[in-house]
Amino acid sequence: MRVLVIHGPNLNLLGTREPEIYGTFTLQHINDALAGIAAEVGCRVDFMQSNGEGEIIDAIQASPGKYDGILINPAAYTHTSVAIRDALAAVGTPFVEVHLSNIHKREEFRHKSLTAAIAVGQICGFGMQSYLLGLRGLCQHLSR
Ligand code: DQA
Repeated sequence: MRVLVIHGPNLNLLGTREPEIYGTFTLQHINDALAGIAAEVGCRVDFMQSNGEGEIIDAIQASPGKYDGILINPAAYTHTSVAIRDALAAVGTPFVEVHLSNIHKREEFRHKSLTAAIAVGQICGFGMQSYLLGLRGLCQHLSR
């Protein structure tokens, strides 16, 4: 089982970015924790982070044949990107959407996700645990 983890814009700044919302752990901490879960559940994970919509779309388009599933935090693109949603719909690679913060508890513009309706599921509000729960859920879904 192969999973691509996609971190969207500004998540490279974790650790210093609005720590009262996102915590003080870094993206590397998340990736290390995900690698631990992957070893435990027996899947292979690759990681990418991009601040660019096009680069994320290219990675999604390249996923069939290389990856069985995608774990994605589209970050701000969650709320704006019809193009990322269309790419996910076009390739049909099963994906789980995760967010560190509870987007439903924040500003109204964050309440809407353009991608959640075509996801296997969405997990938000648990900080780094959102990713770990998301990977477990995705792997369980893929092994069914
Ligand atoms: C986020 C929530 C988004 O609204 C925000 O734009 C982010 C991070 C989260 O993980 O909580 O960049 O996806």
